[in-house]
Amino acid sequence: MKYNVSEIAEVIANRRTIKPEHFSEREVHKELIEKLLNAAKWAPTHGLTQPWRFKVFLKDGLPKLSAFIDQAYQAFSKADFNAKKRDKYLNRIARSSVVIMIGMERQESEKIPEIEEVLSVGCATQNICLLATAYGLGTYWSSPKFLYSDTAREFLGLNTKGKCLGLLFVGYPNSEWPKGQRKPVEYFSEWVNEEK
Ligand SMILES: Cc1cc2nc3c(=O)[nH]c(=O)nc-3n(C[C@H](O)[C@H](O)[C@H](O)COP(=O)(O)O)c2cc1C
Repeated sequence: MKYNVSEIAEVIANRRTIKPEHFSEREVHKELIEKLLNAAKWAPTHGLTQPWRFKVFLKDGLPKLSAFIDQAYQAFSKADFNAKKRDKYLNRIARSSVVIMIGMERQESEKIPEIEEVLSVGCATQNICLLATAYGLGTYWSSPKFLYSDTAREFLGLNTKGKCLGLLFVGYPNSEWPKGQRKPVEYFSEWVNEEK
């Protein structure tokens, strides 16, 4: 076997969403984030467009993200503005040592369909989450509706065809690693072969 298959399978199955409410205060170092981004770039990408864009907020960058989220949420929610919801977003940022904004940049020619570019960014983000798991880090992909806006796209510095795809909170858990739940393979797969 070329790799340690059982460890890789374990990392995949143990990747878990852990929200910042369950992060400890332990800092996630910049060097570690660089490693995660280096894993992201090996995602499959049709036409090698490499559509992933990540904006990493840490240290003094975090208040900048908070200010943006505050303003973007208020502008989006208008009359439905809910201070509790806003505070929840801001509190999540305050409890994180790193937050990564996820973006999809579109090639000028639009030759590759948008859905494939979005999928590719999903794969890149999964690479981040898997390597993070191997380092004992939890991740939380958050995609509130207001981040699918032009305001968020512009904040990421993407061209008009690009899209913000959410925020990825990264942190060390402050308690037990959560257990996951999934339906069995038979539920979501159909096998076609000639054996009787
Ligand atoms: C594209 C994407 C967007 C997501 N957005 C949210 C979100 O906005 N809020 C949320 O609570 N979880 C969000 N999640 C995380 C899922 O809730 C989580 O993956 C699911 O509960 C399964 O848990 P697990 O990741 O620990 O296996 C998102 C996941 C993906 C892949």
